[in-house]
Amino acid sequence: MIQSIAILTGGGDCPGLNAVIRGVTRAAIIKRGWSVVGVLDGFDGLIEGPRTIPLTLDKVRGILQRGGTVLGTSNRGNPFSYPVKKGDGYELMDVSDRVVAHFHKTGADALVVVGGDGTLKIARLLNDRGVPVVGVPKTIDNDLCGTDVTFGYNTAVGVVTEALDRLHTTAESHHRAIVVEVMGRDAGWIAIEAGIAGSADVILLPEIPFDIDHVCAHIGGRRKKGHRFHIIVVAEGAVAAGGRKVVVETADRNCGMERLGGIGHVVADTIQSRLGIETRAVVLGHLQRGGTPSAFDRILGSRFGVKAVELIELGEFGKMVALAGREVVSSDIEVAVDTMNRVDPEGNLVHTAEALGIMVGR
Ligand code: F6P
Repeated sequence: MIQSIAILTGGGDCPGLNAVIRGVTRAAIIKRGWSVVGVLDGFDGLIEGPRTIPLTLDKVRGILQRGGTVLGTSNRGNPFSYPVKKGDGYELMDVSDRVVAHFHKTGADALVVVGGDGTLKIARLLNDRGVPVVGVPKTIDNDLCGTDVTFGYNTAVGVVTEALDRLHTTAESHHRAIVVEVMGRDAGWIAIEAGIAGSADVILLPEIPFDIDHVCAHIGGRRKKGHRFHIIVVAEGAVAAGGRKVVVETADRNCGMERLGGIGHVVADTIQSRLGIETRAVVLGHLQRGGTPSAFDRILGSRFGVKAVELIELGEFGKMVALAGREVVSSDIEVAVDTMNRVDPEGNLVHTAEALGIMVGR
């Protein structure tokens, strides 16, 4: 019999996390009379802890429209490979026993883990270690399989689209090219959808290695036709054919996680130097993750939260909630963490972009 549940948010924050926290809390308390505890700062709150707060109806009042996560998060605290200070440096250690013990100390009977691929991988391993876990897939990147879409993504696409609208007017006034670098890691979902919605002239995706000669020829061709400004959307994970990803930090310098960034400036510099068009690079960065969630993400987050509680009630542990068509269903965590959801270079979205005259780097 379930009497108490715990919830944590792990990995990078994203709009809609508070909708999930509120959904879980309300569904657990109102209909079932369970108690709910929130674990603070992702798995860090169970590694060092337990550090928790009680989640009551009062505590989750007014958070639906807020970005971020009221529980805090961390994308560094993998308990199976945790950096522990040793002498002058750090050693990566398995501290998962501590997490399992601290989870039991919270008095909760089950744990809702809200996160992207890294966090859900940890959730699956903890489930194997006897912590009854239900997962909730989140990420602005939309790169998780097993669900039609993740919450947070819709808001990010909206933010980028609005930015593109704004950049159009300044690019037009100054007769410039503007290269806009967007997030998404190794998936080009934000780039392709926001690029179409924001009427980009060129969209470069991680899934289609781009040819910079073709990109420059396309922009040069536009100029010949009389177009005096150009908007180029570049996914942070986009790679030139035969080239390498551009990174700010390599994985070995950043707790095993590569930090992407910089391709926008590389593309902008090349366009300016080859074509003589005044070009600016804009990196939207964490603006894409912050702030108010869209109505879509508030609804999806709420539905995911409510469904997670249902799965706990049904004893469906080791599963995650997912959107399939218009329904929220139960899905396997394995599917989400074992394969990455990427844009199909020959799929409808890319073909739509090309049919609209948008160049995709090939
Ligand atoms: O996964 C979400 C995401 O925002 C990616 O799009 C981006 O590459 C990464 O996180 C940035 O991570 P951090 O917040 O650690 O800089």
